[in-house]
Amino acid sequence: MRKSSWVFSSVALAAVCSAALLVGTSAGAASDDQALLDKAKSLFKPLPESPALENTALTPERVALGKALFYETRVSSDGRQGCVSCHNPAYYGADSLPLSLGIFGKVLPRNAHTVFNTSLLMAQHYGGNRATVEEQAVKALTSPVAYGNTSFEQVEKKLATLGYQPWFDKAFPGEAKALSVENWGKAIGAFERTLLTPAPFDRYLKGDTKALSAQAKQGLKTFIETGCAGCHNGVTVGGQSYQKFGITQDYWLVTGSTEKEAFKGYDKGRFQDTKNEADAFMFKVPQLRNVAMTPPYFHDGTAATLPQAVRIMAQLQLGKQLSDTQVADIVSFLESLTGEVPADFAKAPSLPVASH
Ligand code: HEC
Ligand code: HEC
Repeated sequence: MRKSSWVFSSVALAAVCSAALLVGTSAGAASDDQALLDKAKSLFKPLPESPALENTALTPERVALGKALFYETRVSSDGRQGCVSCHNPAYYGADSLPLSLGIFGKVLPRNAHTVFNTSLLMAQHYGGNRATVEEQAVKALTSPVAYGNTSFEQVEKKLATLGYQPWFDKAFPGEAKALSVENWGKAIGAFERTLLTPAPFDRYLKGDTKALSAQAKQGLKTFIETGCAGCHNGVTVGGQSYQKFGITQDYWLVTGSTEKEAFKGYDKGRFQDTKNEADAFMFKVPQLRNVAMTPPYFHDGTAATLPQAVRIMAQLQLGKQLSDTQVADIVSFLESLTGEVPADFAKAPSLPVASH
């Protein structure tokens, strides 16, 4: 309840502020540009220059091990799933499928997020049931659909057999039990923390008003005025709160979700994890960085294109119908959130080979 009233007040706030932006039009284009930039700076933040490392020792050895483990498929129960299977450089750290395919072709109940910039989100997954990227990586190992291992001991044995002992020893020097599932999480987390993707929008937020096209700036303005920034804000343009999906109508009536047939019920978001009725249909607001590169959209992958997702959002979350021009402008703004695939991520590593 507290969260949803925050949405409405911040949506209202966005509307008030945008009215102030409009008043400025007579003062000329330059001051308009400055007003929009000031407003944007109050709602969003550029990516940090380097990953936040307060609790994580991010040594080159740890990052290299994390990258190897990210690409490692032999730890999964069918030998074919690694993080990279569903978080692939070719698809901007996601997998391009409406719903991911796990071990033995099992269908996962949700659409895969990108792994870029995710260390900056307030929690991981739509339900927020994993606090950090480290915890996320550990829990994936025993997920019955992603890796399908039955115990952590089994995972540690597999890693040792594959020849990973020296890699862990190097990445976690001096530790009596360097090769552990906990350190699997720390290493993969360290690698993920390097996957930041600065975009034209970051240059804009740092004061370069030419970094965005006129259409992208108009889109940014519409994004703020319509109320999108009430939920999609902060450094990752989302990922910082839980909100109900389907405020004006049940989402499946508008998205055509087939979850009911596939999984015998609609996905109730955070409720699936907390079993608290107040969390029913509350989903973590996804980040919108690189969103133009990661179709299809929504937790069930029901929106095939970005214009479609934008239209549905306006209708379901704000009770508004956007014109074609407004949609195109917002999409142009969202495209300014596309950074480059980190070079180190795109190049596959050499993995250890078993020596006995
Ligand atoms: C079989 C496909 C699959 C595999 C393998 C997989 N993931 Fe995912 N990943 C997903 C799906 C689907 C989601 C969305 C889950 C949800 O929100 O409930 C997700 C979500 C995430 C998120 C959350 C991002 C966010 O915005 O909240 C992170 C981080 C992540 N995965 C990292 C990893 C890592 C690291 C590995 C390897 C240890 C991994 N994934 C293996 C499919 C997969
Ligand atoms: C009240 C909060 C709220 C508002 C306002 C809102 N959104 Fe969202 N947005 C969400 C939530 C929650 C989701 C996740 C829905 C799901 O998949 O379950 C989402 C998902 C999205 C997605 C899909 C992201 C992905 O990777 O699948 C896009 C694109 C998006 N929103 C854009 C917008 C735009 C554009 C606006 C304004 C027209 C807007 N949103 C307004 C909460 C909001």
